Amino acid sequence: MKLKKVLSTLAGICFAAIMAISPYQVQAAENLEGESVYQIMVDRFYDGDPSNNATGEAFRYTENSEEDFRYMHGGDWEGIIQKIPYIKGMGYTAIWISPVSDPQLWGVPDSAGKQWPTAYHGYNVYDPDRANRYFGCEDEQASKEKLKELVDTCHENGIKVILDVVPNHVGDYLQGTGSDAHYLTLTEAMKAGSQVEPVAPYNNVSWYHNLGDIDFSIEHPHCAETTAMLESHDLGGLDDIDFDNPQAKQAVFDSIKGWFDYTGADAARVDAAKCMSPQVIHELQEYIGVPTFGENFDMCVDFVSDWVGDDAEDGMLDFPLFQAIVNDFAYGQNFDNIDEISLKKIFDQDTLYGDNVNQMVTFIDNHDRNRFLTEAGGDVKKMQNALTFIHTCRGVPVVFQGTEQNRGNANGQNISGIADTYNRWCMQTKDADGNVTADYFNTDTDTYQLIASLNELRSEYQALREGTQREMWSSPHFYAFSRRMDAGENKGQEVICAFNNSTDTQSANMQIRAESSITPGTVLVNVFDENDTVTVSADRRVNVSVAGNSNKIYVVKGEIVPTEYVYVTFTVNNATTEWGQNVYLVGDCAELGNWDPELAIGPGTCPDYPSWVINAALKAGTEVEFKAIKKDASGNVVWESGTNHSYTVPDGETADCTISWQ
Ligand code: NOJ
Ligand code: NOJ
Ligand code: CA
Repeated sequence: MKLKKVLSTLAGICFAAIMAISPYQVQAAENLEGESVYQIMVDRFYDGDPSNNATGEAFRYTENSEEDFRYMHGGDWEGIIQKIPYIKGMGYTAIWISPVSDPQLWGVPDSAGKQWPTAYHGYNVYDPDRANRYFGCEDEQASKEKLKELVDTCHENGIKVILDVVPNHVGDYLQGTGSDAHYLTLTEAMKAGSQVEPVAPYNNVSWYHNLGDIDFSIEHPHCAETTAMLESHDLGGLDDIDFDNPQAKQAVFDSIKGWFDYTGADAARVDAAKCMSPQVIHELQEYIGVPTFGENFDMCVDFVSDWVGDDAEDGMLDFPLFQAIVNDFAYGQNFDNIDEISLKKIFDQDTLYGDNVNQMVTFIDNHDRNRFLTEAGGDVKKMQNALTFIHTCRGVPVVFQGTEQNRGNANGQNISGIADTYNRWCMQTKDADGNVTADYFNTDTDTYQLIASLNELRSEYQALREGTQREMWSSPHFYAFSRRMDAGENKGQEVICAFNNSTDTQSANMQIRAESSITPGTVLVNVFDENDTVTVSADRRVNVSVAGNSNKIYVVKGEIVPTEYVYVTFTVNNATTEWGQNVYLVGDCAELGNWDPELAIGPGTCPDYPSWVINAALKAGTEVEFKAIKKDASGNVVWESGTNHSYTVPDGETADCTISWQ
């Protein structure tokens, strides 16, 4: 890959720091900011121990029909241990594995008498406290030890482990609702190996809501009633725990805590978060003492963000951004259209996540969605563009196993509704006797190599892991942003990322952000091509041109000079505006646009009208003259009257300057 070469020609700023970190240690995670995650559906990853495989009807090797995908396929924890080099080769810092508890083997018969073996994914739980016998082994203690061995081996390899936890429900055992709720008796109709109820003490009818299924057709728009409905009904039949029942809640919390205490796993992905209140999950997060991110299968930022923050979870799976990525990168829709789910629309709502925005978990697909490549009509370039996007934009990227093999849904077709069959193929395809017919652990694919490069880039640039994201350009097919460290050791470090989602080349003359410390004359180099450079003009602009369905990721060439820039927050009081007008600042230095209203910085935000807030990074010690202006979309400008304001930038990380519109 060219990336290595480019990085090594850049001044060796970060290599020393990387060498200093022992690769054989994993620090306890305060949060997941900066991680890069590989998502593993254990049953479909790698069969490292055939002796633990389910037997008889519950098991199938083949993946020829849709139905084949609903049976167990033999993957296990030993298989992950054996494939750690494959995962590590892509530079991931963490894996997220599917649920660890012992699963419901056979579902209850449906109205046609059909009994599905639903358990392979682990979301239907039989015994929350027992380690999955098909992923470990039949012996309860040895099975637990195998899971711990997986966690220990990952840690020795510098990889964190995220457990998928399922507090909301067990399997689907209870029949009937209300006072009629009951467990079935074991009848002839049920397959051998069926369990009629979960393991004690979870076989207590009063621990469950027993109100019937969630009606997703009336879920939107969200309001108090729909939230109550989500919290108290069954998700597709799965028996819904009543968290108002203290014993039930304690048992579920203790069970989950037990897995973290025993294995030392690092974080939790919380299943079906929208079916539990943010407060309950927050309590769980505090109780188990590891960072969590939840799953709200929902495209509404306002709703998802209720689960993020100090009284909720550290982060959430970013379903709204996922939908924007599919729309914009797979289907080439308008990045800038705020009437649809687009990048622009979603990022404009980032403030709702507050300081946790870099803990949002980003993805291009997962085990419940069509493979991105299928959505993109098999166009690998589009998929690679989307992958580069999630490894450079804010948040924690997660990539579903197999993406690196350039393979979409196994039948090449989009699945409508929840995708839970052809998208979940095994990393080895087998015939009915278990002979391998195709192996998808190929480390030579261009996407495997690309992911390795992207993760290397993330490890080099703190700005890509923790930096603030700021929009630089948004138009129908060209979107660009900066990631910048505004504080800390790498203050001023900045990466500029530009994406084209059309087939034609897209170009823009972009202004460097006001908050940036990149000065005129600075040379930026594309990390994927050392010969591709752009120079920042005197008025702090760069010309960026990106070929169809691709991207450019620019870093500063040469040594990054520790800057003496101060992040100044300007407040302009009493700036009353007409409809359509916004407030900007313009002044006598490049950072303030050299008195050119077109280059003025802003628009300001207006949390407390008529006071406007505008941020700029300015050099410590300099004296600047400036004025506030009011500008509308057509560029009409109203200047402040009177003399210029003058301000001397003090030393320090941040400063404030307040003026009153004159
Ligand atoms: C969401 C999971 O991702 C999905 O696969 C599962 O079936 C449901 N939650 C129920 O646990
Ligand atoms: C032009 C503006 O019209 C004026 O208000 C401002 O004071 C000067 N630039 C800067 O000296
Ligand atoms: Ca196995």
